[in-house]
Amino acid sequence: MADDILDISGLSVDFRTPGGTLHALRDVNLSVKRGSVLGIVGESGCGKSTLINTVIGLLPSNARVAGGEVRFDGRDMLKMTPGQLQDLRGQRMTAVFQDPMTALNPVLTIGQQMVAIQYRSGASTREKRRRAAEYLAKVRIPDPEPRLGQYPHQFSGGMRQRICIAMALLAEPDLMIADEPTTALDATLELEVIALLKDLQREVGCAVLFISHHLGAIAQLCDDVAIMYAGEVVERGTVREIFHDARHPYTRALLTCDPGRIREATRRLPTIPGSIPDLRRLPEGCIFRPRCPERFERCAEHPGDRRITETQFAACHKALDLAPLERIEA
Ligand SMILES: Nc1ncnc2c1ncn2[C@@H]1O[C@H](COP(=O)(O)OP(=O)(O)OP(=O)(O)O)[C@@H](O)[C@H]1O
Ligand SMILES: [Mg+2]
Repeated sequence: MADDILDISGLSVDFRTPGGTLHALRDVNLSVKRGSVLGIVGESGCGKSTLINTVIGLLPSNARVAGGEVRFDGRDMLKMTPGQLQDLRGQRMTAVFQDPMTALNPVLTIGQQMVAIQYRSGASTREKRRRAAEYLAKVRIPDPEPRLGQYPHQFSGGMRQRICIAMALLAEPDLMIADEPTTALDATLELEVIALLKDLQREVGCAVLFISHHLGAIAQLCDDVAIMYAGEVVERGTVREIFHDARHPYTRALLTCDPGRIREATRRLPTIPGSIPDLRRLPEGCIFRPRCPERFERCAEHPGDRRITETQFAACHKALDLAPLERIEA
């Protein structure tokens, strides 16, 4: 049995666009250990959704996997037939997305949908309804039995997202993929859903691949973190390593700019100067170089992964030399 439930290596994905080939993912290496939570953070356009869509096999038609492997439980998903992929999805690998309304069918009751999703189980409809109610209770929907008869619009936004999580866990998957599942919720609900996800993940024992641009949510939920920038994983490590001893200047800039960590009231939040490069015309060398406060001559050469510890890697020539970032309290 493979140690990692998901192991992505050397993954590159291109999009065909009118302006030329866009290199959306380049040589991405990531793994999710069984039963653990990996968070992926990065600014808009850094390739988070492209990565997830590659894993769940839902890339648009203008996309092409230019290289690499995506191993699920040791088997390369990129070599699976559509039938084999279909067997994985919804069973061993499930997903929750940002907008619960698009995931739920508005004209069917929650109960109907939660029974339908158990189509592979040989259990009776009555047993499937019992399990549906059991999972609604797990995500703390009060009075679950009668609520199975209600439609999605009869629930609040936060409840709908919790129902989606219940549905994703109902299959007791090995891996649940959550793409910004709390971004549409207000701050209080977000904290609640994150705490719930953590409890359920432990209870079901599944691994989670969690995408977010909210560092607080990542710190609370994840065991390991990967930081993406413009289609590359620039740093990865345990939550502790990333939040307390980040070695890539981009990670350090993200941490310093996080509104959740800035104590004094300010009219203007700090931002990272500059913008993401055009992925159709990639600069030579380090991808972060044009915006990097630490850049020097060697950055004209791509740094590749530097090993910091057994678990931490950063793609920066200075990764081993940078002074520790002053510890920023959450
Ligand atoms: N279907 C597509 N055709 C062409 N380019 C695309 C397509 N989908 C994404 N891209 C490009 O690929 C890059 C990565 O996009 P992606 O949607 O994966 O980013 P993201 O990190 O999910 O961003 P966000 O936080 O805004 O959701 C971007 O430059 C985007 O413009
Ligand atoms: Mg996205």
